[in-house]
Amino acid sequence: MTAHVYATAVEAAEGLAVALIEDIRRRPDLVLALPTGATPLPLYAALRRAAHEGPDLMVHLRTFNLDEFVGVPADDTASYRSYMNRELFHAAHLSARQIGFLDGCAEDLDEECRRYDQRIAQAGGIDVAVLGLGRNGHIGFNEPAEMLHAHTHVAVLDESTRLANARWFGDAVSRAPRQALSMGVGIMLGARRIMLLATGAAKAQAVAQLRSGVVTTRVPASLLQCHPDVTLWLDEDAARF
Ligand code: GLP
Repeated sequence: MTAHVYATAVEAAEGLAVALIEDIRRRPDLVLALPTGATPLPLYAALRRAAHEGPDLMVHLRTFNLDEFVGVPADDTASYRSYMNRELFHAAHLSARQIGFLDGCAEDLDEECRRYDQRIAQAGGIDVAVLGLGRNGHIGFNEPAEMLHAHTHVAVLDESTRLANARWFGDAVSRAPRQALSMGVGIMLGARRIMLLATGAAKAQAVAQLRSGVVTTRVPASLLQCHPDVTLWLDEDAARF
């Protein structure tokens, strides 16, 4: 596992953006897994700038987001789909055909998860999985547990995660969803390359656990140590332990 450490969170995100854009230039039809959250905002700002400078850069990409809240309609401003529309999809002119997204309002959520994994398989699997990191070591919405799901599934969110998510729901924890759909760890580990972005002191402990040499489902990100091509982009605060 390689780690690049930068002085600031923005520099870390921009460092990842440079590496990702290089990958896209080499293989314009790359299949990406993409994260949400506050951490990747400067990454998406850098990708929007790149799309503006080279309008052809992303026309052949395929994207699959890691997760979506259950019961939050795609057009709700708090949905991850709205976040992605705002932060990347619209500005980079990604067409509906290029975008894979979980529908947290699907009638049959298990069927929706199966459909998602099938679409990923039909696309040839994930080439590059860009991941964030939860404070408790979660990736996507794979929360610490005795067992983890390999495939896309309905995830029950930890109270600490709901607390962190309240910011997307008017700071009201009571409105933060209890469930989400999440890509499973098996699908993530099936990616050819994994790039993880973690910044800020609140992530330092999870980062240390993810680099510890010990693999445990209690720190889902620690499973990444089993993958042969993982690179971490960190700021000094997240890398401090
Ligand atoms: C959510 C997302 C994760 C993300 C994490 C960290 O739980 N499901 O994919 O990595 O938040 O978010 P932030 O970057 O805002 O700290």
